[in-house]
Amino acid sequence: MAATRALSAAWPLASRLSEAGRLVVAGCDAIALAERFGTPTYLLAEDDIRARARAVREALEARAPGGEVLFASKALPVTAVYRLMAEEGLSADVASGGELHMALAAGVDPARIYLHGNAKDEAELRAALRAGVGCVVVDNADDLRRLEALAPGRPVRVLLRVNPDVAGDTHAFISTGQAESKFGVPLSQAPAMIEALDASPVVMLDGLHVHIGSQLLDLHPFERAAAAIAPLGDFATYDLGGGLGVAYLEGDDPPSLEEWVDAVVGAVDEHLGPGKRILLEPGRALVANAGVTLYRVVTVKAGGAITWVAVDGGMSDNLRPMLYGARYEAHVADRFGGGTACRLVGKHCESSDVIVRDADLAEPRPGDVIAVPATGAYGHALANNYNGVPRPPVVVCRDGDAKVVVRRETYDDLLARDVV
Ligand code: LLP
Repeated sequence: MAATRALSAAWPLASRLSEAGRLVVAGCDAIALAERFGTPTYLLAEDDIRARARAVREALEARAPGGEVLFASKALPVTAVYRLMAEEGLSADVASGGELHMALAAGVDPARIYLHGNAKDEAELRAALRAGVGCVVVDNADDLRRLEALAPGRPVRVLLRVNPDVAGDTHAFISTGQAESKFGVPLSQAPAMIEALDASPVVMLDGLHVHIGSQLLDLHPFERAAAAIAPLGDFATYDLGGGLGVAYLEGDDPPSLEEWVDAVVGAVDEHLGPGKRILLEPGRALVANAGVTLYRVVTVKAGGAITWVAVDGGMSDNLRPMLYGARYEAHVADRFGGGTACRLVGKHCESSDVIVRDADLAEPRPGDVIAVPATGAYGHALANNYNGVPRPPVVVCRDGDAKVVVRRETYDDLLARDVV
């Protein structure tokens, strides 16, 4: 991936500071975008997403031809992004009927859609079968029972999600491979489940699936997961999930996409056999660093124990700091650098509404545009309307052009579901 990078790895590829010291994302001046689209706004650098999608696909093709890269769409479920990923040759992982609906609306080939979920209800499975999704990832015995009750006309291709009892080194809330996880069939029950799937006329068991967690910076758990499922038999296909971590802060140095693919392919080759069809499901690593959130400073409260810099968004557009203690960097969009130690907070009626706990901004003032990078994954996806705050638009930037792909919510949208 060749790209100029004037800013840290947290920022989109090819974003930079202009000579005047103003943030430029994909050729667009961030402050001009804030004026044009209002704030808060989620920016996405299209070329950044395309470059990462292509990098994973090419890395997998080079190391394990015939595999498949699935975009874990929960990270950024936006129809424009589903479309972009499909254009780059990626399949889609959907975790619910809603994500399935969005993927189909985006025009994703149903045969390239994988339906996930630890609690798929009958309506979701029926919708998936009606659409002709390429694969259902069976998480539990009830999935099989429901598929059998729905009696599809032809066998449904399935993968079995196994809980490998391997913990990834990450926040407990986003660790999914440990024995106590709600996801997948425990290792001890997997043989019986595999037998049931093999015996069922409604499914065709293609292989096994594991996903050990998210924001993983150490790749060793992938090898342990592959080793853990090796005794379950020999399958054509193995899906090792997603989970590669990204840079949130200057100085963060996560494994590259290529290093991740190498580690996974190496683990599969070694423990599960050569020549397997390998599936990967990255979400965050494809979209996190393409995203920058723009806010405007509303008030600066100095003189007390803490200097509070409050902006016009917060936990409604980025829940990650309060959910996971996630850390971000932030800058005034035309005055990078620091000087004022402060706490960057949102506008919500809750003390946990913090965006950056230990921020260092350059003389922040009301009216300044603040840019927070690495918000492309699980920002829009987890957004909410707490305090009746409308959710921000999603603006895609490329070569100096910017277009809205999800419009800003309005106050009337907040009333749209009321039945009077
Ligand atoms: N595959 C499966 C089955 C998953 O459950 C997930 C994420 C992924 C793939 C993609 O993982 P990624 O490559 O994005 O790490 N809301 C949390 C993240 C939850 C991840 C849930 N599953 C956060 O904001 O950190």
